[in-house]
Amino acid sequence: MDLFEYQARDLFEKHGVPVLPGIVATTPAEARAAAEKLGGVTVVKAQVKVGGRGKAGGVKVARSPEEAEAAAEAILGMDIKGHTVHRVMIAAGAAIAEEFYFSVLLDRAERRYLAMCSVEGGMEIEQLAVERPDALARVAVDPLVGIDAAKAAEIVSAAGFPEELRAAVASVIEKLWAVYRDEDATLVEVNPLVRVESGEIIALDGKVTLDANADFRHPAHAALEDAAAADPLEAKAKALDLNYVKLDGSVGIIGNGAGLVMSTLDVVAYAGEAFGGQKPANFLDIGGGASAAVMANGLDVILNDPQVKSVFVNVFGGITSCIEVANGIVGALETLGEEASKPLVVRLDGNAVEEGRAILAAANHPLVTIVDTMDGAAAKAAELAAAAA
Ligand SMILES: Nc1ncnc2c1ncn2[C@@H]1O[C@H](COP(=O)(O)OP(=O)(O)OP(=O)(O)O)[C@@H](O)[C@H]1O
Ligand SMILES: [Mg+2]
Repeated sequence: MDLFEYQARDLFEKHGVPVLPGIVATTPAEARAAAEKLGGVTVVKAQVKVGGRGKAGGVKVARSPEEAEAAAEAILGMDIKGHTVHRVMIAAGAAIAEEFYFSVLLDRAERRYLAMCSVEGGMEIEQLAVERPDALARVAVDPLVGIDAAKAAEIVSAAGFPEELRAAVASVIEKLWAVYRDEDATLVEVNPLVRVESGEIIALDGKVTLDANADFRHPAHAALEDAAAADPLEAKAKALDLNYVKLDGSVGIIGNGAGLVMSTLDVVAYAGEAFGGQKPANFLDIGGGASAAVMANGLDVILNDPQVKSVFVNVFGGITSCIEVANGIVGALETLGEEASKPLVVRLDGNAVEEGRAILAAANHPLVTIVDTMDGAAAKAAELAAAAA
């Protein structure tokens, strides 16, 4: 999960990273009040989860509360690379002497972390990385050690900080590492990290990505989610603990095992070509123990997608036998009752397949078609979706 700058600022503050006061506002009047509270020069900053806000006109200096109000008026509602600005942060203005760059991220290919640092920070870091890669120090970080004092010293030295700044910058880098480690982040980026005229080193902008796989360790992270931006079906699936991803086709997909579901998407997209380009409507892996309850939850989410015209249930019985799966489907249709209103194509194979098919046949549900092969079932589901469109 990517965080907004104001959320990153709060996490920084929690871990002792020096930041400036900032107040979130959703209206120009709130922005004015925030600027009055902060006093002096402020900076009004668009809160969108995309880079290049400054260049797009989403960061404006305000010398008075009136100017902050006007800046918020201009920035709120602005579109920055497809992201609408719904909030601004009014930040205390810094008297910047120098701008630096620091980031630490997960380096999947190398199976470790990578710290990047430069004495030339600011808005053009991507360009710098391409045009003068030498100006951006890249320092590998051993996950078992992290960024300790020695590693922080190595980073500031590799970046070419002058002697007199090294200790101060290294100390901030160690605290940024604490954010990365303790919050289970996969990215912490500060651009710019600045030296203000009074000498302090301050994180003036922050980008943080949190690792969703570690959510269970951080109950507090749930509150950072941008509920307004989430797809409602995905939000519902998440609440039901389902591995669901919304796509934009017409054939709802339920399968067990991520690999099987991925190949089901391919097979449906291929079969759909013969029926006016029908495509999968979602990814949904109900996992190993496909109980009636899980099946009902999955069907419930999929049937509530107005784009879905037919559903393909593709299950390979392994540890969970086809008997349980078939009972799950029958049970789910009973649970859903009237809500189950779209045709279902079911393909079962594997452990106890004959018994499973017999259970479905005996239930004789008017919406269910049993097809023995995966290709045949995909074609049938695509055909039904095309017929309903
Ligand atoms: N609180 C502040 N006080 C003074 N100047 C600021 C402040 N915040 C930002 N700036 C100036 O504005 C520039 C752009 O701000 P910031 O880095 O937050 O946005 P950005 O880099 O354009 O956005 P992004 O990082 O999303 O690409 C900074 O490099 C800095 O010069
Ligand atoms: Mg920036």
